[in-house]
Amino acid sequence: RTVVVLNGPNLNLLGTREPAVYGSATLADVEQLCRTACERHGWALDFRQSNHEGDLVDAIHEAGRLHAAGQLAGVVLNAGAYTHTSIALMDAIKGTGVPLVELHISNVFAREAFRHHSYISPVARAVMCGWGVQGYALAIDGLQHWQY
Ligand code: DQA
Repeated sequence: RTVVVLNGPNLNLLGTREPAVYGSATLADVEQLCRTACERHGWALDFRQSNHEGDLVDAIHEAGRLHAAGQLAGVVLNAGAYTHTSIALMDAIKGTGVPLVELHISNVFAREAFRHHSYISPVARAVMCGWGVQGYALAIDGLQHWQY
């Protein structure tokens, strides 16, 4: 099976973007961390980042085709700010039925009120939030417990 890790807007800036909130690891470091986690379970990794909402919708549709073929371990989605705005992402997750973990590096509930609402949470199987970049590895480890 394949684990699809999708990163939304501004996550390409990890490492230099507000390090007090997001830490000093880069997106390449996060990819390595995900790769190591996937290797533990014998899963392939498809790791992506896009600043464009439609690219993320397309990537969820692709994951949906893997899911339909019984080849998806799960999607880990850090939708960045689209978490708080995107009905299109919510509809894509709902429409494909992909098993998905919503992930945030920071504890969004300890931050501004506009980060407390998520369009993703109602269609996610699980939410991982506030564990820094280690949350990606924890989320991938968690996928082993899912029934499809
Ligand atoms: C984030 C939290 C979002 O509110 C923010 O817009 C991001 C990153 C996180 O990983 O903590 O871009 O998803």
